[in-house]
Amino acid sequence: MVNSAITARGLRKAYGDHTVLDGIDLTVAEGTIFSLLGPNGAGKTTTVQILTTLIAADGGDIAVGGHDVAHDREGVRELIGVTGQFAAVDELLTGRENLHMMGDLNHLPRRDTRSLATELLERFDLVEAADKPASTYSGGMTRRLDLAMTLVGNPRVIFLDEPTTGLDPRSRRAIWDIIRGLVDELGVTVFLTTQYLEEADQLADRIAVLDHGRIVAEGTAAELKRLIPGGHIRIDFADQAALAAAQYALGPSARVLDGGDGLTLAVPSDGGVRSLRAVLDLLDAENIEAGGISVHTPNLDDVFLTLTGRATIEQESLA
Ligand SMILES: Nc1ncnc2c1ncn2[C@@H]1O[C@H](COP(=O)(O)OP(=O)(O)OP(=O)(O)O)[C@@H](O)[C@H]1O
Ligand SMILES: [Mg+2]
Repeated sequence: MVNSAITARGLRKAYGDHTVLDGIDLTVAEGTIFSLLGPNGAGKTTTVQILTTLIAADGGDIAVGGHDVAHDREGVRELIGVTGQFAAVDELLTGRENLHMMGDLNHLPRRDTRSLATELLERFDLVEAADKPASTYSGGMTRRLDLAMTLVGNPRVIFLDEPTTGLDPRSRRAIWDIIRGLVDELGVTVFLTTQYLEEADQLADRIAVLDHGRIVAEGTAAELKRLIPGGHIRIDFADQAALAAAQYALGPSARVLDGGDGLTLAVPSDGGVRSLRAVLDLLDAENIEAGGISVHTPNLDDVFLTLTGRATIEQESLA
């Protein structure tokens, strides 16, 4: 069995009479990327703060790397690295100096710190900017430096609170590649919060959707997409005769796809292999030739909208 890097049971937190986390359960396997997905104010940062021992929960059993966050804060802190929602970079220092400062904070020997800084500057594509003040860095470079600083203590579990918010698509992709590399090459566990469905979809092994302090769904991206209707199998045909024969064989749920060339059928499907095989078997049995076949699942935007009843209108309900 795979060990858990993070487990939380019944995690609760309130500020006054405002319940922020209303009893959430989380399990993150070692060496995986877990994404907590939620709109503004959902409680993402609060969750990260509790898991990283920065604030105390009101209730719940929570362990990181087997250490209880309530009773063994030091044990947890030795294992983790945290990149907060707002960068910890000192703008007056150069990139290299920021890394050296982190080495000192972690009580690393100076020589080790220097070689580690050089290695991290390379890994994070900051060699040219290494000796320039961080105030001259772009948003993407600052985030990369911030991430590099998190790695100085050689953490086994890394918490990233909205690591790409505000970045352009190219910088975002660069961060995604780095995060994947950390997991693949170093075997670390990543707990990541995001408001971006695509980010969770691209990176995460498992995703939990947080809404109003509760986990409203949890699973792989594919599992979440299968939770909601709208998925279908598309089958292209060479001519009308083949399409008509297929429509007859597949029954009334098969419809000609709107907006196409009139030679594509859409059959409702949960996106699973079984429903695909059933369609192929029916076509085979009737000797109907399909030109092409593809499976369309709803994207995470559809999932989020269905689960939470809104796209990103959290602001309005807070106002
Ligand atoms: N120290 C605090 N005192 C009072 N309320 C707080 C405090 N910290 C957070 N909150 C409230 O808790 C709720 C969740 O906040 P949190 O910062 O965890 O959300 P978030 O999901 O990280 O949002 P964002 O996407 O904007 O970063 C919000 O309503 C916020 O106002
Ligand atoms: Mg936040």
